[in-house]
Amino acid sequence: MSDQRPVGVFDSGVGGLSVLREIRARLPHEYLIYCADSGFAPYGSRSAEEICERAFFLSQFLLQRSCKALVIACNTATAAAAAPLRQQWPDLPIIGMEPAVKPATAATRNGVVGVLATVGTLASARFAALLDTFGNDVDVLTQPCPGLMECVERGELDTPATRALLDSYLQPLLQAHADVIVLGCTHYVFLRSLVQELAGSDVRLIDTGAAVAAQLERKLIAASALALPQRPGNESFWVSGNDAHMDATLQFLWHEKAFFTLLPT
Ligand code: DGL
Repeated sequence: MSDQRPVGVFDSGVGGLSVLREIRARLPHEYLIYCADSGFAPYGSRSAEEICERAFFLSQFLLQRSCKALVIACNTATAAAAAPLRQQWPDLPIIGMEPAVKPATAATRNGVVGVLATVGTLASARFAALLDTFGNDVDVLTQPCPGLMECVERGELDTPATRALLDSYLQPLLQAHADVIVLGCTHYVFLRSLVQELAGSDVRLIDTGAAVAAQLERKLIAASALALPQRPGNESFWVSGNDAHMDATLQFLWHEKAFFTLLPT
């Protein structure tokens, strides 16, 4: 039996589109509803309580639209809200994400790994637990990146200002000879080419978008909730905050004609 109900995906803004494209590639028949909470971004500088409140609001919105699974396409929101959301809806598949510290520590050749993430992610108990488990035999250097997600929200993936800001965050990691860098925020995945250019081709970049899509597929199979190939999937996009440039950023990052609808308040 085919389950035509949608999959709900949310992030503090357009960063989660980097996860959405992995989901679309892996599950071409699913109907995906994406919420960008740009009116309340950045999450990186908000308290865990504020992020939780937004995560519940967005999840309720998505569940009202009969979503069969939720994907938290945001490392910061996962750290703050995945546990309470799972507690609230224990039977719902809820897929979260965390910086790829585990694969990075396995991939490093010289034992130095850098993590680019938000202030909120790096300060979270969840991240501390991740370091406790995987950061013992390897130097894991963390770099908070205030202002970087805003560059992506504006669609400025390679302007002089974005370059300068990103370079200032990369330098401490490169000077410490990190040979693997974790893109620990879904927004930064859109800056991958620039990070690679600034860090050099010897540095390996890791993110978790594809792993999240694979995990969603596993959960849908386990729940017998996959949409079968009867018709192609599609997407709808919702946004909080009435910013005129958001449609342009969406189309630039999604590579298709697509429009945001304003989320109810
Ligand atoms: N995209 C988000 C993440 O993966 C956070 C960006 C923000 O709102 O600060 O962590």
